[in-house]
Amino acid sequence: NAKIMKGIILSGGKGTRLSPVTDATSKQLLPVFDKPLIYYPISTLISLQISEILIISWPQMIPLFRSLFGDGSHLGLKIQYAIQDDPRGIAEALIIGEDFIGNDNVALILGDNIFISDALDSSITNSFDEGATIFTVKVNDPERYGVVKFSEKKIEDIVEKPKLYLSNQAVTGLYLYDHNCVQFAKSLKPSQRGEIEITDLNKIYLNNNNLNAINLGENASWMDAGTFNSLLEASNLIHTLQKRHGRLFGSPEIASLQANFINQDQLKHNLSKKPKNSYYKKILSHINPNV
Ligand code: TTP
Repeated sequence: NAKIMKGIILSGGKGTRLSPVTDATSKQLLPVFDKPLIYYPISTLISLQISEILIISWPQMIPLFRSLFGDGSHLGLKIQYAIQDDPRGIAEALIIGEDFIGNDNVALILGDNIFISDALDSSITNSFDEGATIFTVKVNDPERYGVVKFSEKKIEDIVEKPKLYLSNQAVTGLYLYDHNCVQFAKSLKPSQRGEIEITDLNKIYLNNNNLNAINLGENASWMDAGTFNSLLEASNLIHTLQKRHGRLFGSPEIASLQANFINQDQLKHNLSKKPKNSYYKKILSHINPNV
């Protein structure tokens, strides 16, 4: 009875840094060039070969996400929805997801995190057995992030927003856990800012000698689109990358096709109900390069 990897997208939060843009909608529904922000993390989960997905958000936003994805069956997914009525911390996603996770492994991804990386594929999911895996990228401003300090190749510590330089490896918003994460998350006490912190959860795995870090490498890009500038920069980057490479980044339709969750006929059927704008035309050109 091999364990499967399920996926959780944490898609609530206050979004204060984007107010007034987020006063009447969810941050994760804002456009990043030609698609809603949440398309990027859901595509990352699909690229990891994850098809059972729980989306967590504010009660009033759930109908909006549901109108975007439904039950996910058109993408070969099984999507469920759950409520977080107050942003009590990233680690709370695992408590909310307790029944969903059951005895399986889980990938938690933040709904505003964009990953551009070829490394995030099924080989990562297949090689995950137990413990926890975090993903790091090199940043120029490590004092803004959770940072991993290595000694030799082993993780020595994870430090939130270090004032003194420890390393330039920032912890990104994608985490793989075995099902023990639920009980560990329940044992956490709120931090000074009143949240149950994902870093504290990762430190439990670290203290148990069960935390692994994967560096996404120099070719990867990682962004959270949580500020006015980063939202615009993300749009510009996606625009540039798509033009340069002549393909879409962050398309769940293409990711599902590549993961074999749907076949070309299913995708063509889905597209028949869609407008022929540049987003859907680019999807068609993936199927038929002559379009
Ligand atoms: P943050 O960037 O920490 O916070 P935020 O989105 O609420 O924005 P701001 O700081 O501008 O108020 O959150 C990271 C991601 O995690 C984001 O997608 C929102 C989500 N999140 C939740 O859904 N619930 C939570 O309890 C927390 C802490 C974050």
